[in-house]
Amino acid sequence: MKLTSRSVSPVAIVSTVAAAALGASLMLAANTPANAATTLGAAAAQSGRYFGTAIAAGRMNDSTYIGILNREFDMVTAENEMKMDATEPQQGRFSYGNADRILNHARNQGKRVRGHALAWHSQQPGWMQSMSGSSLRNAMLNHVTQVATYYRGKIYAWDVVNEAFADGSSGARRDSNLQRTGNDWIEAAFRAARAADPGAKLCYNDYNTDDWSHAKTQGVYRMVQDFKARGVPIDCVGFQSHFNAQSPVPSNYQTNLQNFANLGVDVQITELDIEGSGSSQASNYDRVTRACLAVTRCAGITVWGIRDTDSWRAYGTPLLFDGSGNKKAAYNSVLNALNAGGPGPGPTTTTTTNDPIPGGCTASVSLNSWDNGFVATVKVTAGSSALRGWQITTTLSSGTVTSSWNANRSGNSGTVNWTNVDFNGAVGAGQSTEFGFQGTGSGAGLNPSCTAS
Ligand code: G3I
Repeated sequence: MKLTSRSVSPVAIVSTVAAAALGASLMLAANTPANAATTLGAAAAQSGRYFGTAIAAGRMNDSTYIGILNREFDMVTAENEMKMDATEPQQGRFSYGNADRILNHARNQGKRVRGHALAWHSQQPGWMQSMSGSSLRNAMLNHVTQVATYYRGKIYAWDVVNEAFADGSSGARRDSNLQRTGNDWIEAAFRAARAADPGAKLCYNDYNTDDWSHAKTQGVYRMVQDFKARGVPIDCVGFQSHFNAQSPVPSNYQTNLQNFANLGVDVQITELDIEGSGSSQASNYDRVTRACLAVTRCAGITVWGIRDTDSWRAYGTPLLFDGSGNKKAAYNSVLNALNAGGPGPGPTTTTTTNDPIPGGCTASVSLNSWDNGFVATVKVTAGSSALRGWQITTTLSSGTVTSSWNANRSGNSGTVNWTNVDFNGAVGAGQSTEFGFQGTGSGAGLNPSCTAS
């Protein structure tokens, strides 16, 4: 079709809408106060967060690349150099040359390091790929222990286990040689990592877990919920967030981050890249950044590379700098969103807080579930003031409440409200009480929130 000054192509309409949507953040650039931060790391630090990137040891002699790294980012991930095939190429013989080069550069520049990744079905060294059973389990645990011990005290957060859930509708674990050593391989890896480096945050990291409605997301959620309930040492969940037209930023992205945070873990955006260009790409980056800023326990964002040409999918131009190292529109939208700010990462306490009176209260749930049923035990904890009474709201995504104890109930499906009974309304500052209920369905996503009275 020949475009005249009167005809408007669909592409032009889309770009106009996207440009309008972005208008608010671009206007912010014009209104940016003189003291607004001018780099991604400094802008994120204003709310206590980090802004990081993955880097490759092989590019570290590129002065444009290193210049952008040093200027813009305050967290670094080795794109490939800390993976199992890189750090233990032969069994029992560890190799840290490239990983150290990245880690030492980052630390010398005052940057922190995310470790990626201790245990993964992919990028295993050849000797490990052919192993199975207890010898594989022991080799995996030895790898976790050796690498986490070698870097003890130097890693902000480890991706202890990477990509262990299946895509599709099952919500189940991915089949792999590691999975076939027994379903407890993930918790065994987390326990080994905690013992080796008690100061590192321990994360589970995956892709296609950015949409709350996906079965894979729910599978990971149930695992984290179970780990928290049983005291398996997990501190954070990483959302890789590789987006493109087939896998766009989900409309419930912020809700998803919040729901995981409500389990009592930090959430981190760990491998962000968004294919596209211009204002539509910029507005997607804006949305992701704002989602993190809106979730108190979203600790920071890492993009998966510096320039488009450094990306594992360079054809999609998914990053914040073009191939020459120039800032893209996406860069400006992220910087502006970070400068607009949000609440800082909060204390490492569990779950949702609703705070209408000083002190407030929090609620957390521990779940015992089976095929189509569950028992939920809800713990209500007073904040810095004593409670006279409390109200809890829970959400049943499916099923109904069939019985309950130690609380009054209103409703039995969907949003269910609970209030204290006579004997458990008074809770001292910092003290807790519990009530419980049984229901049909999975009990996933109850997300209790507490209102103090
Ligand atoms: O360095 C060698 C080079 O010497 C050799 O000639 C060439 C031939 O294939 O391979 C080069 O290594 C490649 C390496 O990237 C460095 O470019 C590997 O083949 C290639 O498999 C590797 O891909 C990496 C991929 O993970 C697999 O580990 C990507 O760089 C890396 O961005 C990507 O990152 C993953 C995260 O770890 C987990 N989440 C998804 C993400 C994207 O796939």
